[in-house]
Order: sequence, then structure tokens, then C-alpha cells
Amino acid sequence: MKVTIDGIEIDVPKGTTILQAARMIGPEVAPPTMCYHSELKTSGGYCRTCIVKVTQGSTANPNPMPKPVASCRTEVMDGMVVQNVTSPEVLEARKGVVEFLLLNHPLDCPVCDQAGECNLQDLAYGHGAANTRYEFERREFDPIDIGDKIKLHMNRCIMCFRCVKVCEQITDGRVHGVVHRGENAEISTYIEKAIDNDFSGNVIDVCPVGALTDKTFRFKQRVWFTNPMDAHRNCENPKCKGLVRLWLKGDEILRVTARKDQWDEVHDFICNTCRYDKKKKTDWVIEGPTQVNRHSVISQNHYNHLNELKVQVMKQQKALGFMDINKQP
Ligand code: SF4
Ligand code: FES
Repeated sequence: MKVTIDGIEIDVPKGTTILQAARMIGPEVAPPTMCYHSELKTSGGYCRTCIVKVTQGSTANPNPMPKPVASCRTEVMDGMVVQNVTSPEVLEARKGVVEFLLLNHPLDCPVCDQAGECNLQDLAYGHGAANTRYEFERREFDPIDIGDKIKLHMNRCIMCFRCVKVCEQITDGRVHGVVHRGENAEISTYIEKAIDNDFSGNVIDVCPVGALTDKTFRFKQRVWFTNPMDAHRNCENPKCKGLVRLWLKGDEILRVTARKDQWDEVHDFICNTCRYDKKKKTDWVIEGPTQVNRHSVISQNHYNHLNELKVQVMKQQKALGFMDINKQP
């Protein structure tokens, strides 16, 4: 099937969504996402950040779709034409979506453990407006423990449902979900139950904001002062591949998380033993520094990032015929 997104045509198999097709083209045209997660079935369709404009439905029916559609939930049709970054209407509508997502969100970034790796922070910066027009009181909740290692800050939750899908699909016996409706909806455990099973920690990794945080890492360190390393071990749990990211400060492992791809989504969920109980360097085979996106604040002060930059600058200088000042005469 042929689909054109922001003027770029691509062939994709039947059943591909607009979002997946856009990701195949590249990050320049891929819409941002907050609730979709490729490894979680039926995720997506909640947040509306991934909206796009379909200017031609298909070759057979070239009519445009009457309003923006959620690209994570809309499959491409042969001959479909889509606009994302090339549509001022989509950009304006997305700004509205961001405003809605931020309505009740507190400005916690200076004290939030998710700062530096928060999808909502990036979304607000890239697609939001500088000011809010909301004048009413924000809803407030006290932070609660929903398990001995997980803290829930409901104030920060954007109701993306990812954590609910993790517990539904990855863990045994889901004990939490969304209670109440609309403005009153909140994530909660059923009657003060604790989330306690061998894959429960993954809710922390999929949460796009700082609503679910790792109690063993809370307030220990800003993430950009740590040194992330990819590592693995032979995990005894048959469902866990033991592929992780270690967040180090010197020789100390401050945190263990699952690895995320370029879209900030987890592919191999990890068990709680790997996440919480293996905090010694000798527990792991360290593969090397994590490739962090150069634009991420986490890449600051990392030597591999500076080396990469140096190689790029030297290449450019050579191409432009600059004299190599490091060369001995
Ligand atoms: S707690 Fe996090 S993962 Fe769960 S619904 Fe809220 S924002 Fe999404
Ligand atoms: S990512 Fe598509 S609706 Fe949330």
C-alpha cells in the first residue's frame, strides 16, 4: 500500500497504522505520542497528541477525512495522503491537546524524578504554548505507595492507560486500574491493594510522566548527572531477557531500568529481580555506554557524546578544506 506523509511516499504492508508508516519514514514526520506503546496491545487512542490530517482517504475514495484523526489508531489505505508537520491546522490543534494535558499537571519539574526523561516535558517544549489559560483550581492528590517500590503521584498522571495495560498484559493478576470517570478519573489500586508481582516495576518505565516513580531511586540523583550503560545478565526468570540499562554514578548503580528505543518505548520488559535486587556491578556484563540522543539533556557531559561531536566537526572542517591545527608540522 502506498501512503504519502508530509509529501514523502512510502510502501507499507496492509494493516500498518499512519503512525507506524510515519515512523518508518523517520522522526522528522513521526507525530509525537504519549499513550501509544508499540509493545502494549490496544494502547493508543487516549491522549490525541498523535493527531494528523488526512487530506485524501484513499485512491478509491479521495475525499478528505472531516476532522483530525489519531494516527496511532488509524490504518493506512492505498493512496492515502496525510499531513502532519506540513499542516498548520494540525500543529494548532496539537497545541490545544497539549494545553488540555497540562490543565491539571503541576509544575513539579524542578523536584520531579522524571525531569530530563519526561515525555510531557518534551511535548510541552516542542508543541505547547508558553502560557496556560486555565484559571481554576487544579485537582490535587497526596502521593501514595502502590507497592513497596512504587510511588504514585496522581497529580502528574495524564491518564494514558499504559501502566494499566502493562499490568493487564505483562503481569499476573492486575490489581490496579482507572476508577471514576472524566474529571474525577484516577489511577488506583483496588481497595488499598499493593502492586506486587515479578514484573510490576515495568509500570515505572512506561509511565510517560513522573506519576509512577521508583522508590529506590527517588531524589537520589538528577538523571543527567548519571552515566547510563547497557548491560545484561542471565536472568533466572524465563520471561525476562535480562537486557537492561544501568544508571551509574561512579561505580554505584543507582537505578536499573528496561532499555528504550528511539521512540522512548520499551521492547523487553524486565523482572523485579533485575530491577531492584541486582545493584552491584559484578551482577552484570556491561556492554558499553548507552547511545543517548544528542539532543537529550542526559547526553550532557558524556564523553562519548563529545567524541562524536569532535569527529563530526573534524569531518566538516576537512570537507571545507580547513587546516588541521593538531597536525605536527
Ligand atoms: S500513572 Fe503514568 S502510565 Fe499510568 S495512566 Fe497515569 S501517566 Fe499513564
Ligand atoms: S498516541 Fe495516539 S492517541 Fe495517544
